[in-house]
Amino acid sequence: IRTAAVIPAAGRGVRLGPGTPKALRALGGTPMLVHAVRAMAASRAVSLIVVVAPPDGATEVDRLLHEYPLADRTDLVVVPGGQTRQESVRLGLAALPDTIDVVLVHDAARPLVPADTVDAVVAAVRAGAAAVVPALPLADTVKQVEPQPQGTPEPVVGTPERALLRAVQTPQGFDLETLRKAHDTVVEGEGATDDAGLVERLGAPVVVVPGHEEAFKVTRPLDLVLAEAVLARRRA
Ligand code: C5P
Repeated sequence: IRTAAVIPAAGRGVRLGPGTPKALRALGGTPMLVHAVRAMAASRAVSLIVVVAPPDGATEVDRLLHEYPLADRTDLVVVPGGQTRQESVRLGLAALPDTIDVVLVHDAARPLVPADTVDAVVAAVRAGAAAVVPALPLADTVKQVEPQPQGTPEPVVGTPERALLRAVQTPQGFDLETLRKAHDTVVEGEGATDDAGLVERLGAPVVVVPGHEEAFKVTRPLDLVLAEAVLARRRA
C-alpha cells in the first residue's frame, strides 16, 4: 500500500489579517506550509506529498519548498489550486499516480499536527476504513441559530448534545478510490467544509480516531500566538 498526502494551501487566509497568503506566513521563522509538509513527511508511511499552491503562485511555492529539502524517501510535487478548497483538493488528487492507494488530505493551516496523529490516521485506513478523521471532544457548548443580518440578535433553534459532538481536524485519511469518487460525485457549493463530508454524502462510512490539541487550525491572529508558543516549547 502506498500513501500520499495532498496539502491544500491555496487559500488567502483573510481571517488572519491582510498580507501574504496564509500558508506562506512565518511560524518560528519558517513558512507555515513548510511545517505542514514536514509534519506529513514525518510519517514514514507517506512517500509522496502534493502541495496545492495558489492558482498564480505554483512556481513561487515550488521554489520556496526546494529551500527546505525533505528526506530522500519523500517525493514532493506542487500544483496550482482553485477558487475553493474543494476544487484545490480535487486538483491535488488529479496529480496522484496510479500507484497510490491511500491518501491523506491535510490543511496547510494545521502546521503542528504530531506524527503520531498522522500515523494513527494512516493505520486506520490501512486497517480497512474507507474514510478516517481525527477529532476531539468540544470544550464549548454549541448552539444552532437562525442567521440574521449583522447587528440583529440571532434566535437559537437548538442545542445539540455536546457529548455527541466532535471537532474535526486534518489529516483526514481515505481509500483513494473512495475520495476520488466523492469529489467526482458531490457538486461544489453543497456546503461540505471537509473531505469526509463529501464521502458521507456518498453514503460511505466515516470513522473518527483521536485528534490532537496541537493539530489546531491557524485561522485567526490569536492562533498564531498559540502556534509560536507550541513551537517554542518543542524547541526548549
Ligand atoms: O480557509 P480555511 O482555513 O478553511 O482553509 C483550509 C485549507 O484549505 C487551507 O490550508 C487553505 O490554504 C486551503 N484552501 C485551498 N484553496 C482554496 C481555499 C482554501 O487550498 N481556494
